[in-house]
Amino acid sequence: MGKRAVVTGVGHYLPSRVVPNSELETLVDTTDEWIRTRSGIERRHFAADGEQTSDLATAAAQAALDHAGLTAQDVDAVIVATSTPDLTFPAVATMVQARLGMTRGFAYDVQAVCAGFVFAMANANAMILSGQADRILVIGAETFSRIMDWTDRSTCVLFGDGAGAVVLEARDGTGGTADRGILSADLNSDGRHRDILYVDGGVSSSQTAGYLRMEGKEVFRHAIEKLAATAETALSKAGLTEADVDWVVPHQANLRIITATARKMGIGMDRVVVTVADHGNTSAASIPMALSVGVARGQIKPGDLVVTEAIGGGLSWGSVVLRW
Ligand code: UT7
Repeated sequence: MGKRAVVTGVGHYLPSRVVPNSELETLVDTTDEWIRTRSGIERRHFAADGEQTSDLATAAAQAALDHAGLTAQDVDAVIVATSTPDLTFPAVATMVQARLGMTRGFAYDVQAVCAGFVFAMANANAMILSGQADRILVIGAETFSRIMDWTDRSTCVLFGDGAGAVVLEARDGTGGTADRGILSADLNSDGRHRDILYVDGGVSSSQTAGYLRMEGKEVFRHAIEKLAATAETALSKAGLTEADVDWVVPHQANLRIITATARKMGIGMDRVVVTVADHGNTSAASIPMALSVGVARGQIKPGDLVVTEAIGGGLSWGSVVLRW
């Protein structure tokens, strides 16, 4: 016997404004062809003026609660993974808590950039296994359009806004790999690589929000090297191998990274959930949105073994293995 943190609901929210590559051709010296072939991105959503990360997060959380058949009062905790909070503080999670009408429990943010949702899931799992909470809303929500340098064509064409959420609930399991729920996690960071992906402003340094800066080629190289490895480590911690995997749900940064990682894992693209064409890179929101889309498309079904993997600023990277 052992406790498991099981996903019982999933949902996502995309702002209504869709920005196709052709619109970016009017802003910077780029082409639809370059963006498609280098990244696989065809369009992304941008939040409306005044629409903030907490708005996106609240909508995704409500969708996940509805899917689980729960109300906010049933939830013990809210964890939001974000690098683009409404304010320096309080945490976006507390704003979501209030907006959902939750009058109890606790709420906080996790910041591991594009790996944020994987880190938040591992954190929520530990909270559930240690008895801190029985039901947790885990949300990834971002408004990366707000930290784009619109004169830097190498970054501004890649990112988008959105939010995704899951409800994790404590359930009894056998302790074996047939259990539903989170089976293992592998988390890594290496702060020596801070300069290849960062935002050049902040409270304690410049007192500005700053803009995203990225050495794309270097990040690409690390992604190819590290993503398949962390997925394999997480699988082996659970006593599983790539052959057991039904769905890979990768961070959606670049189709070339997604396909190269699947190839390294020996997994066909017919077992990978891909949303990057429609969402662009939404940082911590990308995996929960892909989980939600994967369920809505009828790809991910109860009992399926799902592997998530992500890398982002820090560098931070990791993988969570769960049975849906
Ligand atoms: O989510 C966190 C993790 N982030 C990532 O995983 C992103 C990782 N990196 C990447 O996805 C890719 O490196 C990029 C999509 C960012 C770039 O692809 P690349 O194949 O590495 O291209 P590059 O940076 O080597 O640029 C190739 C050329 C350059 O021109 P020259 O020097 O060869 O003449 C760039 O100036 O493409 C040029 N370029 C563009 N051209 C048209 C850069 N951005 C653009 C653009 N439109 N938007």
